[in-house]
Amino acid sequence: MRQAGRYLPEYLEARGSRDVLALSRDPEAVVEITLQPLRRFDADAAILFSDIMVPLAAAGLDVRIESGVGPVMGEPIRVAEDLARIGSFDPAEHAPYVGEATRLLVKELQVPLIGFAGAPFTLASYLIEGGPSRDHRRTKRLMRDEPSFWVRLMDRLSEMVLAHLRAQVEAGAAAVQLFDSWAGALDPESYRRHVLPWSRRILEGLADLGVPRIHFGVGTGELLPAMREAGAEVLGVDWRVPLDAAWERLGPETAVQGNLDPTACTGSWEACEREALAVLERAGGRPGHIFNLGHGVLPETPPDNLARLVDLVHERTAR
Ligand code: CP3
Repeated sequence: MRQAGRYLPEYLEARGSRDVLALSRDPEAVVEITLQPLRRFDADAAILFSDIMVPLAAAGLDVRIESGVGPVMGEPIRVAEDLARIGSFDPAEHAPYVGEATRLLVKELQVPLIGFAGAPFTLASYLIEGGPSRDHRRTKRLMRDEPSFWVRLMDRLSEMVLAHLRAQVEAGAAAVQLFDSWAGALDPESYRRHVLPWSRRILEGLADLGVPRIHFGVGTGELLPAMREAGAEVLGVDWRVPLDAAWERLGPETAVQGNLDPTACTGSWEACEREALAVLERAGGRPGHIFNLGHGVLPETPPDNLARLVDLVHERTAR
């Protein structure tokens, strides 16, 4: 969950004036930035430095990532003719740097590497809205009013995402995380009809690789049982749902990842510790909890709080 980023001075130094997409195309930079948090924190896994927009940029779309804003499209995708602008995406041909960085990292790391991708709904939202959106209203309108456009777009995106994730695992990633960050904008029925079939296609398409699959979204309290049907063995939850309530909705056979509020790490260590212990309390020592933040690390986070947090969780959960 964005281990790397603006809260680390060494990241800002390595980034220089390049954006996330340019950095992602440079395997040496990817290796360095992925390793940076691991030098400070005793984390149990590393997440590949990349972005959910990488395969879309590799397929020829005009996308950039603005610091403090997020992904922004030169020209959004809103009508059938726009779909022709999404070029082909063969990971080995159009994004060889991902496999290369992954192979280099797996050699260096002492912990498992997590590969990741954006899920079709979240990617579609950036493509259609043209940038970050509060209510995803154009996306939801097209989803309901233009079924043939929606199906073509979701088919295309799920095919790309599956290829991208398979390539990461084939290069050595030990687990994958599918980020449907903005799925929480949907009601369960719309989610089941317009989103779930494609996320399921991706997750099922990874089953033969035998790696754990993690599925995450923000504000998905009401969607958790539906998201579980997509097939991941781990569901990530943000801080809005108490961890035990989320687990209750998912059942004991599903592992859960989360769910410390990232703002809890931005102030005093005492507050961070208190909130982290409350998460562990709700996990109740049950097997199948991956401690994590409920969303990405915020830029104003003191790195030392995260170092202490990792140690605290290790201390309290040692078996
Ligand atoms: O920790 C890591 O190294 C993992 C790399 C990673 C990034 N993005 C790099 C990044 C991961 C896993 C992502 C996923 C991602 N990107 C998601 C899904 C997870 C989530 O947060 O919900 C989404 C929705 C995006 C799209 C995106 N890219 C956003 C919303 C932003 C933040 C915009 C901002 O500045 O507030 C980005 C930029 C981005 N991607 C940064 C990083 C480290 C910040 C980079 C910078 O400003 O230099």
